[in-house]
Amino acid sequence: MDLIVARNREDLVKARRAGTVALVPTMGALHEGHRSLIRQARVRADQVVVSIFVNPLQFGPSEDFSRYPRTFDADLDVCRAEGAGVVFHPAAEDMYAPDRQVAVSAGAMGGVVEGAFRPGHFDGVLTVVLKLFNLVQPDLAVFGQKDAQQLALIRRMVADLDLPIAILGAPTVREPDGLALSSRNRYLSDDDRRVALALSRALRAGAARLAPAEIRAAAREVLDEAGPALDVDYLALVDPATFTEVNETYAGPAVLAVAARVGATRLIDNVTLTLN
Ligand code: PAJ
Repeated sequence: MDLIVARNREDLVKARRAGTVALVPTMGALHEGHRSLIRQARVRADQVVVSIFVNPLQFGPSEDFSRYPRTFDADLDVCRAEGAGVVFHPAAEDMYAPDRQVAVSAGAMGGVVEGAFRPGHFDGVLTVVLKLFNLVQPDLAVFGQKDAQQLALIRRMVADLDLPIAILGAPTVREPDGLALSSRNRYLSDDDRRVALALSRALRAGAARLAPAEIRAAAREVLDEAGPALDVDYLALVDPATFTEVNETYAGPAVLAVAARVGATRLIDNVTLTLN
């Protein structure tokens, strides 16, 4: 069946078919990571809706909203090739009324780790995701583990606000050399890219250790070796349910997460570990 492009909420209602619906929210500039999300949505639902919307609410004043990559025609080819049924691509004015007042608060968990460096970011993410859930009314939504804190907060929103939507977390897709795919990777020069590899290398070094202090130290050593070209915002070893730092006696799953700037490009990555 042909791909339907819905540019507003009326088009979206008309595109709805009988059966189950899976939503894959994106900001476009689609790459192999997004493709894997669409594929996982397809096997689980009758109809897949991919939203492509660069959400102004989740960008800070000094962030890259205006220069965020926009590759809509290529994105449509990706959605068609992966068997999506509908692309929802609303205008910002269609999503946000000028007099809007009410938004979702991510709470304390929205202010730590990534949230400490991007004030208001997760409020903006949750607000747009809740709006997309209400507009699309999916049975299932798929998010990448690449944005681990985002995924954790979406699970919290679904639990705390009783949303009748199943959330599927999908593994991070990487380049053969370990670099996690990101729409922002296209901004990296060859030199930047070499420096950026320190992120995934640090996570692997940490994941090879057993105790929290050793994990943090091994990862930090690799980041330090990269020198001043890698400007680290944080390295955190956290409980995936709360994103608070784990202590030395913690047992269970943990997320080792890192964020750093290489030139003008900010990158994030993480791995999930099990601590005993
Ligand atoms: P965006 O950065 O476009 O990412 C869309 C989805 O793709 C997210 O769920 C993200 O975790 C996932 N993704 C990105 N890179 C990935 C990779 N290398 N492997 C697997 N999945 C990957 O995340 C957003 O957009 C926005 O915050 C959004 C949720 C759409 C709200 O505006």
